[in-house]
Amino acid sequence: MSDPNSLPYLNPTQDRRVALITGGNSGIGYYTVLQLYLHGYIVYIAGRSRSRVLKSIKELKERATSIRSAYTSQQSSSERFLGDLVYLEIDLSSLASVLSAVEAFKNMESKLNILINNAGAMAVPFALTKDNFEIQLQTNFISPFLLTTKLLPMLERTADLYSSSEPPRIIYLSSVGHQIALKFFGLSNNFNHRPNFLFTWLRYGVAKTAGIHFMKMLALRNPKVLCMSVHPGFVMNTNLFSYWTRLPLIGILFWCFFQIFDYFFGVSNEEGSYATIKCCLDPSLTLEKDNGKYFVTGGVEAEPSRVASNMDYAARTWIWTVHELSDRGITIPN
Ligand SMILES: NC(=O)c1ccc[n+]([C@@H]2O[C@H](COP(=O)([O-])OP(=O)(O)OC[C@H]3O[C@@H](n4cnc5c(N)ncnc54)[C@H](OP(=O)(O)O)[C@@H]3O)[C@@H](O)[C@H]2O)c1
Repeated sequence: MSDPNSLPYLNPTQDRRVALITGGNSGIGYYTVLQLYLHGYIVYIAGRSRSRVLKSIKELKERATSIRSAYTSQQSSSERFLGDLVYLEIDLSSLASVLSAVEAFKNMESKLNILINNAGAMAVPFALTKDNFEIQLQTNFISPFLLTTKLLPMLERTADLYSSSEPPRIIYLSSVGHQIALKFFGLSNNFNHRPNFLFTWLRYGVAKTAGIHFMKMLALRNPKVLCMSVHPGFVMNTNLFSYWTRLPLIGILFWCFFQIFDYFFGVSNEEGSYATIKCCLDPSLTLEKDNGKYFVTGGVEAEPSRVASNMDYAARTWIWTVHELSDRGITIPN
């Protein structure tokens, strides 16, 4: 992809733009936040652990300051400004927490330029949340759906403040793992089968397919907002793999396997953020030609699986989710 340095920088004292990212305290999200902050955005990092997010904010500020001080040209120093970093509490395994986060955010900001649904959980054992959803489905799809649809009116109001060439953007972190779901796709089935070792990947794939459906449906329903999904690449040194690498004894084997896989196919955490950063900042992406698209490692446009691209399935995903949330007393605005 184009170097993040080549993407536009803002002066937040003249043009204050706001981004919200879930799970920005580690892995791919951390480097996404770093670039948005360096590019002058006010970034809300939504996370479940106040101490982990505050620690990452401190590190990010130090890192960004040292990157700024290393700028060699006078032009870079005089035209590039740091934004700001703010903690927002959210636990995606609780719908109530998502709704509280939306309210807290709305009390602090009146506009939202970029929403990044980055947080996720992968290949963990079957468990139900207190909202009675399978844990990967809720973390990777249902809660991002709720967060996004509740913030959509604010995103649309923000769209009215800018020209159509600078629309608000929503980015969803999917995964190439969505391909696993193929003919097994079905949201009402939680796939609580044995062996967990296999079916946990299927649950992940189903959730990440639903997320692609969600972006495609939003692109149709909300043409003022630019919605895209992303596979960041194989980024083997994030916390996403920690359930497997922390298993007693056998964890070391998984760790070795992931390192070998990384050697041949992996990209760094920073490179893993490039597809998201492109979707956030690249001015050449437009509502007319890019809404609903899927980008892979480095920001290369690609086609998701046939199931993920199928708009009948996408509509069913939307309807199923709205009904499930309605059963839990939550109304999604039309
Ligand atoms: N790494 C890869 O190879 C890869 C490949 C394809 C797709 N992806 C996707 O990329 C995204 C980022 O993954 P990553 O590799 O950067 O993993 P990561 O380092 O584990 O980051 C995941 C983030 O999600 C947060 N999170 C998890 N459960 C949450 C919950 N219930 N509530 C709020 N936040 C929660 C984590 O917060 P805590 O720090 O509190 O745990 C963490 O900040 C995920 O959606 C993942 O599925 C990654």
